Amino acid sequence: MPTVLALETSCDESAAAVVRAGVVLSSEVASQVEEHARWGGVVPELASRRHVEALPLLVERALAGAGLGLADLDGVAATVAPGLLGALLVGSVTGRSLARLAGCPFLGIHHLEAHLYAALLGEPPPAAPLLVLLVSGGHTELIALRGLGAYERLGGSRDDAAGEAFDKVARLLGLAYPGGPALELAARGGDPTRFAFPPGRISLPGGGFHPYDFSFSGLKTAVLREVQRWQAEGQPLPVADLAASFQAVVTKVLVQRSVRCALDHGLPGLVVVGGVSANQELRQRLGAACGAAGLALHLAPLAWCTDNAAMVGLAACRRLAAGQISSLELGVAPRLPLAEANSLYGPPPF
Ligand code: KG4
Ligand code: ZN
Repeated sequence: MPTVLALETSCDESAAAVVRAGVVLSSEVASQVEEHARWGGVVPELASRRHVEALPLLVERALAGAGLGLADLDGVAATVAPGLLGALLVGSVTGRSLARLAGCPFLGIHHLEAHLYAALLGEPPPAAPLLVLLVSGGHTELIALRGLGAYERLGGSRDDAAGEAFDKVARLLGLAYPGGPALELAARGGDPTRFAFPPGRISLPGGGFHPYDFSFSGLKTAVLREVQRWQAEGQPLPVADLAASFQAVVTKVLVQRSVRCALDHGLPGLVVVGGVSANQELRQRLGAACGAAGLALHLAPLAWCTDNAAMVGLAACRRLAAGQISSLELGVAPRLPLAEANSLYGPPPF
């Protein structure tokens, strides 16, 4: 398997890494989280500017950390979809320029595929067919993985992503951005049964509920109403109980629908990736439910759950080893579904 320099700039982490044959040789991440925290969320224009500033040094450090130069590379990869338009452009133009200078192929990588391959760093590495639960700030999706690039979307959120729900509810509770880790911390010692928040279900036209789809916006509204009720009464918010009750319902619903989806589709393993997969309660519930259902569970190592470039490099090694490369004229696609990731290889689709 080849040696790849990989870049990640799709949202609010600038990152560069060198990966050889599925082994991470170096990984540099410059998080912008603190800066966006001042605004309570990611400011796209600011994210692009910070990527522009951070990337050259990160690339230099990643190469130095691996003890390699441009001439040693078999490929340069960058996340080109999905994500913030301006942010993606920074990684894309940097990656394509470096590939040209190094005289090696360029690979545009789908961000969610990168998250997926982060789970390959786990022990034991998963083998297809599998069900993938992608839970990040922008996505909540259940996807059948039948081979490299062979994805079928089986379910997902109809409104907010799970991470987005964590971020919004954390904000309602007066917690810092990003909300996921802050809310998890606040929930410690809280009573998860104190508030009965709704699990969020999507009705089917013929009656009943969609078994694998999620809805988190009603849940967020239910927390908002509860917060407003306490505020109207002039009472201090029971932050720990609210956080614990919210976290319990989100993690329970993610686990129940994922396990049911895997069993219904005869998929013997479940891979869980994306920022929310760092949540300890989710990891514990997944362990228990998969154990009971006889499903193999694969979680990305904690360090690789949130955005980084090592996962981009891992995905790129796979694509390159399969003989797939992207056009040097490949653009970026802020909304490309994972099921269309194969279109990034060969003649440019956009
Ligand atoms: O995958 P990621 O780093 O970026 C995206 O591609 O979106 O995911 C970031 C999301 C944020 O919404 C963040 O609040 C959430 O993952 N997150 C968590 C935890 N750590 C990060 N959510 C719940 N519990 C956590 N421990
Ligand atoms: Zn991500």
